[in-house]
Amino acid sequence: MTVNSHKDIDIIRTIYSQWLGLAQDETDFLINSAQFCALIKNSLADISWAGFYWYRQEQLLLGSFQGPVACTRIALNKGVCGAAFRENKIQCIADVHQFSDHIACDANAASELVIPIEYSGAVIGVFDIDSYSQARFSAEMGAEMKKLIQSFVEKTEFPKAIFP
Ligand code: SME
Repeated sequence: MTVNSHKDIDIIRTIYSQWLGLAQDETDFLINSAQFCALIKNSLADISWAGFYWYRQEQLLLGSFQGPVACTRIALNKGVCGAAFRENKIQCIADVHQFSDHIACDANAASELVIPIEYSGAVIGVFDIDSYSQARFSAEMGAEMKKLIQSFVEKTEFPKAIFP
């Protein structure tokens, strides 16, 4: 693990505590997902975009995010997000230009970390983080982010109107 990766792990653990504080008296899906993105985007350095895509209408549909305007609907057979969802596997892409299927919502994006979100044994969406720097993310960061994301799922009520 690199020195920077150690620092990122510490930051993600701090975010975890902050998140538990925010979610202590709040289970609302829209509130929690908005706060969650703000925490990630503003705590980790060198991040251009952080946000949710949720499995709805047989696609991945854009949810709360922080960063520039992004692609709104991603087919399951497309992109880094589609791969994370289909394979239920964290995707840590050092150089998105080497990932043939990458969807360039932002032409300046250089590396990407996508974490599948699981609920009751099923993948219900992904959390996507982008950076303008190459090789910004590590597998260790991905594993730590996964714990944070699953805490989001545990603390939040998913509305039946959005997730029937
Ligand atoms: N690059 C992603 C699409 C989402 S945006 O980066 C916000 C992909 O290839 O799936």
